[in-house]
Amino acid sequence: MGAVADRWLAWRDKHLASPLFQRWAAGFPLTRWIARREARALFDLVAGFVYSQVLLACVRLRLFDVLAAGPLDLRTLAHRFEMTPEAAQTLLAAAESLKLVQRRSDGRYGLGERGAPLVGNTPVTAMVEHHAALYQDLRDPVALLRGRAGEGALAIYWPYAGAQAPSQLGDERVAAYSALMSASQPLVADEILDAYPMARHRCVLDVGGGDGTFLTAAAARTPGLQLMLFDLPAVADRARRRFAAHGLVDRATSAGGSFLTDPLPRGADLATLIRVVHDHDDARVLAILRAVHAALPPGGSLLLAEPMAGTRGAEPMGDAYFGFYLLAMGRGRPRTAEQLIALLQATGFTGMRLLPTRLPLQTRLMHAVVGTAPSL
Ligand SMILES: C[S@@+](CC[C@H](N)C(=O)[O-])C[C@H]1O[C@@H](n2cnc3c(N)ncnc32)[C@H](O)[C@@H]1O
Repeated sequence: MGAVADRWLAWRDKHLASPLFQRWAAGFPLTRWIARREARALFDLVAGFVYSQVLLACVRLRLFDVLAAGPLDLRTLAHRFEMTPEAAQTLLAAAESLKLVQRRSDGRYGLGERGAPLVGNTPVTAMVEHHAALYQDLRDPVALLRGRAGEGALAIYWPYAGAQAPSQLGDERVAAYSALMSASQPLVADEILDAYPMARHRCVLDVGGGDGTFLTAAAARTPGLQLMLFDLPAVADRARRRFAAHGLVDRATSAGGSFLTDPLPRGADLATLIRVVHDHDDARVLAILRAVHAALPPGGSLLLAEPMAGTRGAEPMGDAYFGFYLLAMGRGRPRTAEQLIALLQATGFTGMRLLPTRLPLQTRLMHAVVGTAPSL
């Protein structure tokens, strides 16, 4: 950015910070709509945490599933939710203002345009419930930034982030996050499998593949594909059980270990890293990518899928949400596509390209090819 832009921005800031200018802009016919729009956007920032808690109340009460059966009146809803009609009115008015519910005939309440997509939507409602832990950790964001990161509820929830020996984590420590990852996989799996049909490959290795939910979806789409999964031993055990439950024992294997220290199983011509890289700092990402590179044949493919920083139209998702989520968790960061490309290049991958996904907000997808590993 040049000196002219700096001067213009300084001039703009001075005016936007002036109460006199603000009053003028809110009254002048040509700027009034901008002033109102910006004031509303600023208020949404101020009050956003309240909106999230209104949503949490709706999710905990299963309001969207209840209304999916048809509109109901205030008294029926109050009785069902074991609250006074006045309290139910407060909730429904708040939910209506957020377009989660909508008034219907005879004063009844039905689904709103933002509530209807949440009916039976476990991937999203599981995340909303999970945010209770994030909410707790973000109580003092400045303390978090000054070094209290990795000491709160999320660090306990994601124990591998700070573990010295992650391979030793038992099932009781990995169960909650593995279940959440499985519940939220539908947000990701279809995006990836639509953008990159896997029929061109013989065998896929899902690195940090969780309890096998993604590979089970890939198997259903791609009949001839062999499946291999690598994750921490307790998580790999869960995947083995899932593969057995889905009749995939002839097609799927699951290996346990740490991708930071152990070699990955060989034999696949495609590897996937789904929502894995953003959990780790650069040194660990380089170790993971080197292990993936070593496990694939020359010309083999890597698919890296996760939300990325700097995604146009979704900047707050990558930079604000994941930036602070990972800060609270104590490790990792959201990266731009360019930063990921640099890490891939440093570990011997070539031909990096972003594949378009339908909802880049939640998943972006990078394809890379195994080239010659650079000498260390
Ligand atoms: C955010 S979860 C993503 C799971 C899955 N790929 C998905 O998208 O649903 C990250 C995964 O990486 C695994 N993981 C973390 N550290 C690991 C390590 N050192 N070695 C192997 N797997 C690890 C976790 O157990 C977890 O399953």
